[in-house]
Amino acid sequence: MILVVGGTGQVGSLVVRLLRDQDRSVRVLTRRPDSAADLVAEGAEIVGGDLRDPASVEAAVKGVETIVATANNAAPSSKGDARPGAIEHGYANLIKAAERAGVSRFVLASVLVTPVDDEVPQARAKRSIERRLAASPMSALSLRFSPFIEVWLALAGSTLPLRGETRATLQRPNRMLAINRRLSGNLVEERGVLLVPGPATNRNAFLSTHDAAAALVAGIDTEDIGAEADLCGPEVLSWQQVAEVFSDVLNRPVRVVGVPGPAFRTQQLLLAPVAPGLAAIMALNRLMACSESYQDTTPVATRLGLLPLRTVSGVLREKALLGAAATR
Ligand SMILES: NC(=O)c1ccc[n+]([C@@H]2O[C@H](COP(=O)([O-])OP(=O)(O)OC[C@H]3O[C@@H](n4cnc5c(N)ncnc54)[C@H](OP(=O)(O)O)[C@@H]3O)[C@@H](O)[C@H]2O)c1
Repeated sequence: MILVVGGTGQVGSLVVRLLRDQDRSVRVLTRRPDSAADLVAEGAEIVGGDLRDPASVEAAVKGVETIVATANNAAPSSKGDARPGAIEHGYANLIKAAERAGVSRFVLASVLVTPVDDEVPQARAKRSIERRLAASPMSALSLRFSPFIEVWLALAGSTLPLRGETRATLQRPNRMLAINRRLSGNLVEERGVLLVPGPATNRNAFLSTHDAAAALVAGIDTEDIGAEADLCGPEVLSWQQVAEVFSDVLNRPVRVVGVPGPAFRTQQLLLAPVAPGLAAIMALNRLMACSESYQDTTPVATRLGLLPLRTVSGVLREKALLGAAATR
């Protein structure tokens, strides 16, 4: 039995689908079992629970050999989600319960290391969870992904990357994300503006969520890859080059408007005492504004059998063919 913690999320639900395609037994832990009918239809077993509730986590890990964990609080949707330390505490419960239940393999969706990790709650949490896993007797793999195409290119003002995505992070029940989508969700299509964190020259090797999901699944059986591995997309693009791809696909001019990193840092610090969830979103934007991802991780992609990886233009062109009705 494989437990997917975060199986109702964007990458997590793709992991569930891939595992079910391989006919493997899958259990999903979620705080909202009522909203998981699509996963039940895929053949997954759904258990209600919350990482912060140790009893529910203990029940969920019974009879489990492997855990794939994608749960995170980047888009907080329940009371207390954004409280400092909430996700680290939840993962500590999960790892403790997994060790007691004799789980043998743990695969974590993580993020690349950046110079500002200490100042960004989500990145700090990943580092802390990775350290806890490294000290565990379980065989563990933390896959450190670069920014996702279907998340960051949508956040930059386009609905195109969301087409065909049934459980997009940006469509999770989070008020700030809903406001963001209403105000700037269509800037690229309607105004030809790509609104990005940091300068237009910032480069990233964007990765598709579909390749991230395939990597997590391949990571289950690839035990000799090490405890941590970076995985980035196949090409390094500046935001200016991303705008050019949008321009080609949408057949309209697209220009970049960059929001400087310090603007996000100021908002993060001002909001932290009153709205920690929003402050954490600002912190993630700052991380994007002042770090770049350009590692060549071809050896890891090769080892996991993922080649060829999806490119930004490949993903956007495929989604353009789906038509606007494919956005939820
Ligand atoms: N976005 C990026 O560019 C990027 C880049 C690199 C790595 N990553 C990492 O990749 C992964 C992406 O996962 P995703 O897209 O599937 O996430 P997602 O769409 O944001 O979904 C979040 C998931 O976490 C679960 N969750 C949150 N708090 C929980 C709690 N207390 N107890 C149980 N479940 C909880 C939610 O479950 P319910 O609400 O149903 O309970 C949901 O399934 C994350 O780990 C992220 O940090 C993201």
